[in-house]
Amino acid sequence: MGQKIILIAGGSGLIGRALCYTLRNKGHIVYVLSRNPKKEGDIFWNPMLKELDSALLEGVQVIINLTGEGIGEKNWTTNRKIALRDSRIQTASFLLEKAKKMERLEYYIGASGVSCYGFEGHEEKNEALPFGSDFLSKLVQEWEQASDLFLEKCPVVKLRIAVVLSNDGGLLKKFQPLLKLRFFPFFGDGKQLLSWIHIDDLCRLFDFCIEQRPQGSFNAVSRNDSSYDFAKALLKKSERRGAIIRIPGWLIKTVFGEMSVVILKGIRVSNAKIKAAGFVFKYTLLEDALSIIKKP
Ligand SMILES: NC(=O)c1ccc[n+]([C@@H]2O[C@H](COP(=O)([O-])OP(=O)(O)OC[C@H]3O[C@@H](n4cnc5c(N)ncnc54)[C@H](OP(=O)(O)O)[C@@H]3O)[C@@H](O)[C@H]2O)c1
Repeated sequence: MGQKIILIAGGSGLIGRALCYTLRNKGHIVYVLSRNPKKEGDIFWNPMLKELDSALLEGVQVIINLTGEGIGEKNWTTNRKIALRDSRIQTASFLLEKAKKMERLEYYIGASGVSCYGFEGHEEKNEALPFGSDFLSKLVQEWEQASDLFLEKCPVVKLRIAVVLSNDGGLLKKFQPLLKLRFFPFFGDGKQLLSWIHIDDLCRLFDFCIEQRPQGSFNAVSRNDSSYDFAKALLKKSERRGAIIRIPGWLIKTVFGEMSVVILKGIRVSNAKIKAAGFVFKYTLLEDALSIIKKP
């Protein structure tokens, strides 16, 4: 596949930074839409105020939309829920306005999340199942509907991303203070499953989509491991210097409120559909994936 002009909205974050590197290394021209442009290739926008110079986007062939306030960053107060929603739905609809004028646009990739299935039931979650009924599932459903509006312009894929394992941020960084003290935590009874994907595989998956153009929704999940398995793997990585600790469910609920479901209630998510489309994961074992973390 030849060089493409790719626009990443929200490309300054954890996934976007790694993705820019991967796609530029492959020879693509990558622009990033950011409210705080800092680097070469960054373009200023303010989607809430509908500020963006369309002239800069004329040649764009692929849009990747990663924008959205961090789901796990702050407790879900009423105002926070509005911010989580608006930063996804309103930005997508503003981007669509701009996309309508992009004559060369060929493909749209929208970020989505595995939390779309809700946390009920023990069956493995595949893409044919309906959305759940809790706050997060409904948010993701609306988010995917906003992505689908791009279908009037080009084919659309929605990647239902699992927890991203990366050294540069996300879940693992949140636990760095505990890891530094050599405490390896698990939560509640430790049996709940956490679906994860290594950042390198996720970037490879975006690249795979740009080349192969799958359409519809796909779970972007390498594997599901229990909260206790995570603690065990981290302890092993530290050459057994440290201790596994249990953080009780009531404490998580007190600190995180409604958001605690994400930590305490696991789901098993299937990756059969994306594998059937031809994608091959590089990191399929937790221990290998965790090898990216710097030693605490
Ligand atoms: N990381 C994960 O484990 C994970 C898992 C599942 C799904 N996802 C989803 O994948 C997407 C990218 O994830 P990420 O980890 O890279 O997120 P991130 O590090 O928080 O980056 C998201 C980017 O979105 C932009 N943004 C945030 N709030 C915004 C707002 N109110 N208006 C406009 N832009 C806003 C920011 O760009 P500027 O500040 O430069 O404007 C930010 O760099 C997110 O939508 C996330 O929910 C992530």
